[in-house]
Amino acid sequence: MTLPQDFSAQLLEWYDRTATALPWRGSRDPYRIWLSEIMLQQTRITAVEPYYAHFLERFPTVQALAAAPLNEVLKVWEGLGYYARARNLHRLAQTLVNEHHGQFPATAEALQQLPGIGRYTAAALASIAFDEHAAVLDGNVIRVLARLTDLPEDITQPATQAQLWQWAEALLPAERPGAYNQALMDLGRTICTPRRPACQACPLAAHCLAQQHGTTAQRPVKKAKAPLPQVRAVGAVVRDEMERVLLVQRPPKGLLGGLWTLPGGLCEADESLPDGLRRNVRADLGLEIEVAGQMAVAAQTLTHMRLTLRAFACEILAGNPRALGVAAYNWVTLTEAQHFSLGKADRVIIEKLRHWQPRLFEEFE
Ligand code: ADE
Repeated sequence: MTLPQDFSAQLLEWYDRTATALPWRGSRDPYRIWLSEIMLQQTRITAVEPYYAHFLERFPTVQALAAAPLNEVLKVWEGLGYYARARNLHRLAQTLVNEHHGQFPATAEALQQLPGIGRYTAAALASIAFDEHAAVLDGNVIRVLARLTDLPEDITQPATQAQLWQWAEALLPAERPGAYNQALMDLGRTICTPRRPACQACPLAAHCLAQQHGTTAQRPVKKAKAPLPQVRAVGAVVRDEMERVLLVQRPPKGLLGGLWTLPGGLCEADESLPDGLRRNVRADLGLEIEVAGQMAVAAQTLTHMRLTLRAFACEILAGNPRALGVAAYNWVTLTEAQHFSLGKADRVIIEKLRHWQPRLFEEFE
C-alpha cells in the first residue's frame, strides 16, 4: 500500500486538535498505561473510566497490586467483565515484582514475553510509555486500514491479519509513535465507526479507497461468527437453620475462576438438571442433596458460551461440606452474599432470592 508522506502528519495534526482527554493520557507510567490497555480490551471507554480511577486508588503501583489478595482484585473488577483479565493483571504484577524488580521491560519484544501480554498490548505499551517504534492493530485500527485500502479479504483469516500487521508497521511514522497509534485508535472509535462513519470529518478521507469506491459500508469484510454454544448451568440453594445459603469459590483456573457462585456447575448434554446438580455438588463439596423446585433463572454470556443458570431449592441428605472441587465454601446471608465477588448470573439469582416469595397459589395457576 502506498500512501503519501503527509498521511501520518495529517493524522497527528487531527489528533493534536481533537484528542479526547482520557485519564491515562498524559501519563508515561507504564503501570497506568498497561492497566488502561487491559481494561479497554472489549470494553467501552465510558465503562472503563470509573473502574480505572477506583482500581488505581486501591492499587496505585505494581507493588500494591502484587501484594493484594486475588479476591480483592476481583472485587474491584466486578462488573467490568472478562475476569481472566483481572487474574492476568494480578499474576503479571507478581511476575514483575518477583522477577523484574517491579519494573516493566521497555521494549515491545520483551513485554510480549510476559504472561498475558500479546502483540497489540506490548506495542501499545511500548509506544505510549517508551516511545518505541511499534505498530498496533486492534479492531478499530483494522477497520481504518481495511477501509483506507478497500481490502476485500476476510479479516478473520490469519493471512489477512498478517497483511494488516505489515501495513500497520509500514505506515507507522518515525516520530511520536505513541501519539500516532492513539490517533488511529481514536479515529476508529469516533470517526471511522462500524456503522454510519463520519467520513466528512475524517482527516484521511482524501486517501480512503473505500470512500472513493463507495464500499465503506462493506469494509472490513468479516466472516460471520458461529453462534455461541448454549450451556445449561445449575445452582443449589442450600440453606442452614439460620437461613444462610451456601456459596462456593471456584478454583482459580477454569470457568469463573476465583469468583463465588452457588454450588453447582454445568450439565452434560444428556443429563437432567437435577442429576447434573447432584453430580456437581457431590464432586465439589462431598454432599448428597435432594433437589426440589426451581427458584430462579438468569443468563450470562461468557467468551465461549452462553450460559443459562437455574437455581433449585435443595436439602442436604448426607454429609458436611468439604472443599473438594472448589477453592473454598462459606455460609452467608443473602445480604452478605451481595458483597462477595459473584459470577454475573449468580448475582442476579442472589438478588432474585432476596425478593423471592413462595408462590402460594401455584397449584391453581
Ligand atoms: N483503546 C485502547 N487503548 C487506547 C488508547 N490509549 N487510546 C484510545 N483508545 C484506546
